[in-house]
Amino acid sequence: MNLTNSENLFQRALKVIPGGVNSPVRACKSVGADPIFIDHAEGCEIFDADGNRFIDYIGSWGPMILGHRHPAVIESIAQVLKRGTSFGAPLDLEIRLAELVIDAFPSVEMVRMVNSGTEAAMSAVRLARAATGRSVVIKFDGCYHGHADTLLVAAGSGVATLGIPGSPGIPESIAHHTLSLPYNDIDAVKQLMTEKGDKIACIIVEPVAGNMGLVAPAKGFLETLKELSEKYGSILIFDEVMTGFRVALGGAQSLYGISPDLTCFGKIIGGGLPVGAYGGNRTIMSHIAPQGSVYQAGTLSGNPIAMAAGIATLEQIKKDGFYESLEEKSQRLAIGLANAAKKAQIPATVRHIGSMLGLFFSDREVKNFDDAKACDLQDFAKFYKGMRENGIYIAPSQFEAFFISAAHETQHIDATIRAAEIVLEELRQ
Ligand SMILES: Cc1ncc(COP(=O)(O)O)c(C=O)c1O
Repeated sequence: MNLTNSENLFQRALKVIPGGVNSPVRACKSVGADPIFIDHAEGCEIFDADGNRFIDYIGSWGPMILGHRHPAVIESIAQVLKRGTSFGAPLDLEIRLAELVIDAFPSVEMVRMVNSGTEAAMSAVRLARAATGRSVVIKFDGCYHGHADTLLVAAGSGVATLGIPGSPGIPESIAHHTLSLPYNDIDAVKQLMTEKGDKIACIIVEPVAGNMGLVAPAKGFLETLKELSEKYGSILIFDEVMTGFRVALGGAQSLYGISPDLTCFGKIIGGGLPVGAYGGNRTIMSHIAPQGSVYQAGTLSGNPIAMAAGIATLEQIKKDGFYESLEEKSQRLAIGLANAAKKAQIPATVRHIGSMLGLFFSDREVKNFDDAKACDLQDFAKFYKGMRENGIYIAPSQFEAFFISAAHETQHIDATIRAAEIVLEELRQ
């Protein structure tokens, strides 16, 4: 595959951008590759600077559930551009997006728009601390909640990919307020809450983990978090930045029937533009300034173009049959990949939850971050490179999920399975 233009662009980028990228995992370092530079994208396909075409399972790391350049999203953006690009003052579109989020999430009565998932999680933790008057945060190893100081402890996603243990630049005086436990370890949570429950401001969790690869919550895990947070008066935060509107319209909380106190959003609600949000019931959200005294603000928060893209996206995914169709495609891909691995006699586990899919190079079920780290990362690196060579664009890390979009048709799924068969067969040899 000719990657000359990408290689030249990367050399230029390295001179002016740290590592040549504006977000670490894009660099493909952990799989021993260099990034491809994108020229444009359409539907479920992306085209690089050398004219190569790929079937895309990154989907901008989750937002592109409709595929790229969906006509309704493009039209909605075009319409709002006639009005302006940013006002720094309220506009009708902010209310509409808030209403769409609230309609889909019964635990959310009020929502505040921000610009990223990082901001959403950071602000939700601040609110939880203010509402409880406590400092300590419980999170789980391998979960990623963005890069705010408090939450960058034992984190997943790029932090895991690069093998960074702690977080240089974060004072110990801040990090020591964050306690990280193994995901799915019900006993560890019980023990910690018994010892320190009255000091815990919040428990923040990815209700389906997607930043250490795809890891499902064990039976009773989320229920225990709910029960213990209620018992000790701590705030339960579901970080649904990735899972919200992805695993189901109402996110993981609708799938598992658990109502958190606060929910973080991002990715899909911005339809490919920079948006995050956090929400909860009226009482807790009333602490936020200017209604209350917990300060949180943003020059571009509720940006018209971002709101327009988010509204168009949520209006599309509300349509009947949307999630059923996505589920069918995701299932087809999961079965196809599992069969391909089996045929090649490569130990692998594949699972999907809605349109998130995880493939681990291990014959054991992955329940937490330690299990994920024990997978064969070298096999993954070879798999990544082989898939890319065969026109399939997946995340360059074992610790990320695949995202299937409405634009993926059966032909794309089947082409992906065929590519996996070739690559896994090569891996075996
Ligand atoms: C669960 C979760 N929370 C928070 C974030 C941070 O979002 P952003 O990258 O928009 O800051 C991410 C990003 O991948 C995420 O997956």
